[in-house]
Amino acid sequence: MLKQDSRIYVAGHRGLVGSAILRRLREGQFSGLITRTSAELDLRRQADAESFFEKERPEFVFMAAAKVGGILANNTYRADFIYQNIMIQSNVIHAAWKNEVKKLLFLLIEDLKADGPIQKSWHNFSSLGGNKYHCHLNYRYVACWTHNKGEIEIEVYYVGSREKAPY
Ligand SMILES: NC(=O)c1ccc[n+]([C@@H]2O[C@H](COP(=O)([O-])OP(=O)(O)OC[C@H]3O[C@@H](n4cnc5c(N)ncnc54)[C@H](OP(=O)(O)O)[C@@H]3O)[C@@H](O)[C@H]2O)c1
Repeated sequence: MLKQDSRIYVAGHRGLVGSAILRRLREGQFSGLITRTSAELDLRRQADAESFFEKERPEFVFMAAAKVGGILANNTYRADFIYQNIMIQSNVIHAAWKNEVKKLLFLLIEDLKADGPIQKSWHNFSSLGGNKYHCHLNYRYVACWTHNKGEIEIEVYYVGSREKAPY
């Protein structure tokens, strides 16, 4: 369970997804936030990722670090993007496991990306009306996302406590 002083690492905190997560965590006054830019910590490098996790010992990880491009770049540099993302993801997942991270929020985004916005198997998944959906991450925390039909973009617009959820 997240506490106000839990050590929380937001990987990719300057990106679209990561910055939204960080903003919400800051609004929730979580005091143990940990961030690194890709220049400070290149998550493709296994040794660097492992020593970071060993030193910082995050308890919770929000995984939003990735090599992301537009449709053209994704298509043009397919092998490079796949390589970078496999390295980043493998290193974070393995270092998190080795250092006993309690929760790694990763599948939310990856599952949404792979299977779209309707995730009936998720805990308390439901439509919030219109193009909005939500699920419970655990007893206290929820995630909300929108999906515009006909577009592939899914926006996770809230990850935070149930009390402050925007519905
Ligand atoms: N945007 C969306 O609406 C959306 C929707 C669903 C899923 N997603 C998924 O969410 C993830 C993040 O997407 P995004 O749109 O937020 O991407 P983004 O804006 O391009 O941000 C990517 C972040 O990853 C970091 N990063 C990249 N390479 C890194 C490396 N080698 N080591 C450490 N950090 C690295 C970047 O750090 P620096 O800024 O420090 O370089 C940046 O903060 C992706 O898996 C994406 O597919 C996005």
